[in-house]
Amino acid sequence: QGNGAPSSLDRRLVVVSNRIPLSWVQEGGHLTTKPSSGGLISALEPLLKAHGGLWVGSAGSEDSAEIREQLESAAKQHAYRYTPVFVTADEQVNYYEGFSNEVIWPLFHDLQSRCVFEPRYWDFYQRVNRKFAEAALAETEQRDVIWVHDYQLLQVAHFFREQRPEACVAFFLHIPFPAPDIFEKLPWRRQILEGLLDYDLIGVQTARDERNLIACLRGFLPHYKIMGRGRRHSVLGPQGETRIEAMPISIDYRDFARGASADTVVERMASIQKQYPGLHIAIGIDRLDYTKGIPERLRAFRALLRDHEEYRRKITLMQVVVPSRENIPRYQELRSQIEQLVSSINGDFSEPGWTPIEYMHHSVPREELLAMYRSADIALITPLKDGMNLVAKEYCTAHVENSGVLILSEFAGAAPELGAGAILVNPYDEVGVACALRQAIEMEPRERHQRMLRLRRQIRNADILGWRDHFFAALENLPERKAAQA
Ligand code: F6P
Repeated sequence: QGNGAPSSLDRRLVVVSNRIPLSWVQEGGHLTTKPSSGGLISALEPLLKAHGGLWVGSAGSEDSAEIREQLESAAKQHAYRYTPVFVTADEQVNYYEGFSNEVIWPLFHDLQSRCVFEPRYWDFYQRVNRKFAEAALAETEQRDVIWVHDYQLLQVAHFFREQRPEACVAFFLHIPFPAPDIFEKLPWRRQILEGLLDYDLIGVQTARDERNLIACLRGFLPHYKIMGRGRRHSVLGPQGETRIEAMPISIDYRDFARGASADTVVERMASIQKQYPGLHIAIGIDRLDYTKGIPERLRAFRALLRDHEEYRRKITLMQVVVPSRENIPRYQELRSQIEQLVSSINGDFSEPGWTPIEYMHHSVPREELLAMYRSADIALITPLKDGMNLVAKEYCTAHVENSGVLILSEFAGAAPELGAGAILVNPYDEVGVACALRQAIEMEPRERHQRMLRLRRQIRNADILGWRDHFFAALENLPERKAAQA
C-alpha cells in the first residue's frame, strides 16, 4: 500500500475510457461478451472490482435491448456497472482510427511523419468526446468522481463542464506526452491544451511526461500561471486550477505472482521448455504497433546471429504479436513488414531442429502467457517509445524464482523505475541491442538473481494499489473548482 495514502474513496468512482473491458462476439446467432485486454483494462479493472462504481465506454455501434441485457448480466458478476456509449461506423473511422490513432497516437510517440492531420478527424473527435461527456452526465451526480482515461478522450472535461462546472473531473494519460517541438506540429494544439485544463487533476506516467506537458503549457498558453516543480504542478487560468502529477501505473503484483506460481502454470512452463532443450529463450510480447519497435528488434536479433555465429542454435526468440487496430493502413503494412522479416531471418539461419524465431500473431490466454513469461530467461522489450509498458512489469513479477533478465528500451515509461535492474538499450541501436542479448546470455546466475530481485522489489513496492492510493491522495487535496480571478 502506498505511503499511508488513503486506500478508499467515500464518493462513487466513475471511470470513462474509450472501451469498456468487454468485447462482443457472435456465437450461434447470439451476441455474447468476452473480456477484453490491454494495459488500461488490466490496470483499472481490479480497481473498479474492489471499489464498485461505473465504467463508461464504447460498446459497439448500435444500441439494442440485447446489448443492454448482456451488459446487465456481465455487471452482476462484480460490484460495478457499465454505461455504454455507441460510436457509429463513421465516428469510429474519424474519431478512433483517424484523430486518436493517426494524429494523437503517432505524434505523442514522437513519430510525427506518420501523422495524418485531416481536419475532418478533429470535428469527429470533438463530437465523440461530447458524446462520452453526455453519457457520463446522464448517469452521474455532482458528488461523483469522474476519472477519464487516455488520449482518445482528452476533451471530455471540456464538454462535461459546460453542464456541470463544479464537478470533480480527473484524467490519466496512459501514453507519453511529447516535447514542445513535436507537440507544436498539432494544428489544434491550443484547443487540446485548453481542454486539458478543464480537468481538476491530470496524471501522467513519468517525470519526463510532466516536464513536457508543463513546457508545452508555458510555451503555448503563456497567460496561464504555473506553480510547483518536480512531480507536482498547479496551473491557474480562466477555467480554474488544474493539478498535474506524475504517477506511474503498475500491475496487481500479488495477483500476478500468485497466478504465476499455480501448478498448472508450472507444468505448462516445463512443457514449453522441453521443446527448446539447451536453448536460451528470449520473449517479446507486443500489441502489433509501430511504436513497439518490433522490426528494429528483429533486425537486432538478426545482427546477433549474423555477427556471432557462436550464438546460433543457442537462442530462440518467441515473438508474440497481438492483432491491433487492423483497419488502419499503417498497421496492415507493419504486419507484412514483420512477417517478411521473420521469414527471411528464419530462412537465412534455420537448421534442422532449430528455428531462430517462433512467431505468433494472436492473443494469448493469461495462463499460457504466465507460462511463457516463466519459460523465457530473457525478455526483449524494446519500444521506440511507450507510456509505461506493463509487459516489462508482468515479466519480472512472473519470475517468482528471481531468474530471468529484462532487456528494456530506455524510451519505455517503465525505464526510470526498472533501469537499475534491467539492461537498458536504445531500440534504434541494432548493434547495442545485439550486445545486450549477449550480455544477458552470458550473465552469471548470481547477477541475474540480484538484478531480478531488485526489479521485483521495485514492482512490489509500487504496484497498482500504490497507483490507486496516489490518485486518491491527489484527489483529497484538490481545491474546489471555481473560475480564477485571472
Ligand atoms: O494506452 C494505450 C491504449 O490505447 C489504451 O487506451 C488501450 O487499452 C490499448 O492501448 C489498446 O488500444 P486499442 O484500444 O486501440 O486497441
